[in-house]
Order: sequence, then structure tokens, then C-alpha cells
Amino acid sequence: MMKKIFLLCSITVFVISCQRKSTLTDEQVEKYTKHGKEIAQSSFKALSSQLKQVMQAGGVKNAASYCNVAALPLTDSLSNKYNAVIKRTSLKLRNPKNAPDSLEAKMLAMYLIMSRMRNPVMVPKILEKNAQEVQFYAPIMIKSETCLKCHGIIDDTMQREDYGVIAELYPNDAAIGYKLGDFRGMWSITLKK
Ligand code: HEC
Repeated sequence: MMKKIFLLCSITVFVISCQRKSTLTDEQVEKYTKHGKEIAQSSFKALSSQLKQVMQAGGVKNAASYCNVAALPLTDSLSNKYNAVIKRTSLKLRNPKNAPDSLEAKMLAMYLIMSRMRNPVMVPKILEKNAQEVQFYAPIMIKSETCLKCHGIIDDTMQREDYGVIAELYPNDAAIGYKLGDFRGMWSITLKK
């Protein structure tokens, strides 16, 4: 019993001592949140307007293979434009290149738990990473039916034929089975201070 209590205490002390409190002021947090939101929004717009065009031109199948080649270069070019590192990540990945690092995995888990609560507060967060950088996190929710065409349920919201193309491109795809309102993933944007 005493052993257990001792163990618990040392774990608690260890966890607490690992946490460095942010030195950012409220104003700084506000500024970085605003900047991060702008970048996430324009990246989302760029991704979805291109997606829409390709979907109109050649259907979901065409768009899926397009997304495959375009998503990463597009976020890369926006990263250059904003002098930031723009990333989309998830606990259920399609592209393994979007895999979360250990901190991102923790944030994703936090958002996921939050999303299951009765009154979820799915808001962006700022973390002071080091002396030069801050990290902006923002949850990505499934807000439109369009998302379900490629992330939905096979034979229900997503056509089996369309999914065939995706599955071929991403043999280890886990990013399906979503419904409207689900927590899908997260923006993780590294901003320079
Ligand atoms: C035409 C098919 C298609 C549609 C529609 C679509 N996606 Fe995707 N999604 C993809 C593909 C393909 C990838 C992998 C992109 C890559 O290689 O980085 C992807 C990747 C993602 C990722 C990155 C994490 C991961 O699993 O690799 C997120 C987050 C995401 N999609 C969310 C959404 C949301 C939200 C919507 C609706 C606004 C949406 N997607 C609509 C095909 C689609």
C-alpha cells in the first residue's frame, strides 16, 4: 500500500516537474491564435476549392488521386508563403506522412475526448514550443457532406467504387467511417515568434 502511494507520488512529481509553464502573455496568445486561424482557413480554402474543381471535372475518383499528389505540395507552398510549417494530422490516418508527433498525438487525444463530451469546446490552442517557435493547434471537424464522399461509410455515405481508388492509393487507410459532426483531425502549425 505504502509502496503504491509512494509510486503514485513520484509519478505525480515527475509529471508536474516536466511541465514548463508558458511565458506568453494573453496578448501574444491572442495574436498567435489569430495568425494560426488565418493560415488554417486559407489552407482549407485552397485545398477545398481545388478539390471542388477536380471533383466537378472528373468525380470523386479523379479527385482522390488528385488530392494524393496535391495536398502536401499545396500545404508546402502555403508554408513558404506564411513562413510557417503547416500540417494536417489525425488519429485515423489516410497518408502516413501526416502522422502526428508525440505532442500532436496527445493533443489529438485531448480533442477526441473533448469531442465526446456533452458540451464540447473545440477551440484552437497555442503552445510555446521553444524560444523561437509557438505551435498552433486547431481541431478539424467533419462539417460537410462532401467530406463523407471520401471519409464516410462504404455503401452508405461513400460509394464503394470511389473508395476503391482511395484504397489503392492508400493501402493502410484508416480515415473512413466518419459521420457529420465527428472529430476528424487537427491542424498543427508551427509559427515563428
Ligand atoms: C475527393 C476525396 C476527399 C474529400 C472530398 C475529402 N478528403 Fe480528406 N483526404 C483525402 C485524401 C486523398 C487525403 C490524403 C491527402 C494526403 O496525401 O496528404 C485526405 C486527407 C485528409 C486529412 C489529413 C490527415 C490524413 O488522414 O492523412 C484530413 C484532416 C482530412 N482529409 C479531412 C477532410 C475533411 C474535413 C474533408 C471535408 C471538408 C475532406 N477531408 C474531404 C480525400 C478527400
